[in-house]
Amino acid sequence: MSDPASDPWAAAAPGAAATLADLFDAEPDRLDRMVIEEAGLRFDFSKTHLDRGLVDAFARIADEAGLPARREALFGGGIVNPTEGRAAEHAAERGEGAAESVARARRFQARMRTLIDAVEADVFGTVGSILHVGIGGSALGPKLLVDALGRHADRYDTEIVSNVDGAALEEAMGRMDPHATLLVIASKTFTTTETMLNARSALSWMEEHGVVDPFGKVVALTASPDRAVEFGVDETRILPFTESVGGRFSLWSSIGFPAALALGWDAFESLLEGAAAMDRHFRLAPPERNAPLLAAFVDRYYANVRGAETRAVFAYDERLRLLPDYLQQLEMESNGKSVRLDGSPAGRATSPIVWGGVGTDAQHAVFQLLHQGTHLVQVEFVASVEPGDTLAPDHHRQLLVNCFAQGAALMAGRPSEDPHRGYPGNRPSTTILLDRVDPHTLGALIAFYEHRVFANAVLLGINPFDQFGVELGKEMAKALDGGGDALDFDPSTEALLARAFGGDGD
Ligand code: F6P
Repeated sequence: MSDPASDPWAAAAPGAAATLADLFDAEPDRLDRMVIEEAGLRFDFSKTHLDRGLVDAFARIADEAGLPARREALFGGGIVNPTEGRAAEHAAERGEGAAESVARARRFQARMRTLIDAVEADVFGTVGSILHVGIGGSALGPKLLVDALGRHADRYDTEIVSNVDGAALEEAMGRMDPHATLLVIASKTFTTTETMLNARSALSWMEEHGVVDPFGKVVALTASPDRAVEFGVDETRILPFTESVGGRFSLWSSIGFPAALALGWDAFESLLEGAAAMDRHFRLAPPERNAPLLAAFVDRYYANVRGAETRAVFAYDERLRLLPDYLQQLEMESNGKSVRLDGSPAGRATSPIVWGGVGTDAQHAVFQLLHQGTHLVQVEFVASVEPGDTLAPDHHRQLLVNCFAQGAALMAGRPSEDPHRGYPGNRPSTTILLDRVDPHTLGALIAFYEHRVFANAVLLGINPFDQFGVELGKEMAKALDGGGDALDFDPSTEALLARAFGGDGD
């Protein structure tokens, strides 16, 4: 057995773990220590099993994993993604990074503003709607922003289409006037099959409806401007961003263009400022008062010490309904790895499976399992003090009391003589309460999740910034479609192909 003095992970292992209720009794200052208020957000970690000793143990793990140096490398533009030889400069997009990276980001932002002005000055003709095609990080971020913040303020009818299923694009185009649509093609690499096909189909739709110069209504958002030019996009309508901003970290870059257009530049700037406030907090706050770091400690405790396999995020706010989708990519594409930076086996569970939904709907669907099921689930609630509706206050009050009641019920439980009606309780949850949902708080919230992902990766010794796991499937799809290298497929796949396309699958 390892010695807790020399192995901090052993120090984090549970003895006879105290219950959540015991922890509140044993630590009178628990609420002060386990609640952090930052940038208009309240992070309440008090209903988790982290006691003072565990926080200290994880702070030691972080230190021994080289967190301070890796964090400085992240902000300083160092190579924190060694498998691709790249920095990860999303924080520079919001002004927190190496001076030259921040200056480059500002130059790209100036281009974005110029193009927004051009759209507003009808340089693209009258624009009533924006059709944004992109997938993964080139869709999920802008979609979240527009959905969360653009409900009343959206100056354009914005459709963000990601799926290659033509039904998605057809439906979106059906709601639009091809003559008054700005087509935004978002792809970091400008090679993604789904996006390129959607872009081509959208261009054909414009052409078929008599738009004389469809490319005259195209804007490209990309880190590969040459490929965009090759595709036919006018050089002056390309909004570049840098290679060192990862796809799932890119909503701050030109990938955020549809949101900046729909919400206005001031709102976009406020989003960046909110994120920058969280950057500074992550960079400067001591471990025990550092929200992304404490969250990562909680994540590691449940995944590695208690064996929880999933984390469920419930947005008790309709405006944040896309947050779980966004987090799925951010967290699972980043930390869904099996090897450490040096290629050796990770040796412990890495990213949890992230899932979730909206409250209160989820209460009537999946919460039965959370309260009485056999799985230990790390639960997270996200809510806002200010309402997103203008109806009588009853709605928002109901929403919030339900949110708080769920956390309380998971923790307290209730014994019963009848085994069917008993609640074991002692089930953990974290609550993140925003003052309001606005660009500033949303920026801070998303940056919090980004840094939490990074902190988890440091604790695990893995690289959160590559995503080789998605490549094999892409390659096989290409081969099945008759392109790329010919590959041999298993009998089941061959038969599916034959059944779908007839004959030998051609
Ligand atoms: O398939 C995964 C991925 O590479 C993501 O990491 C990325 O966000 C998405 O595809 C889209 O890539 P691109 O922006 O290059 O089209």
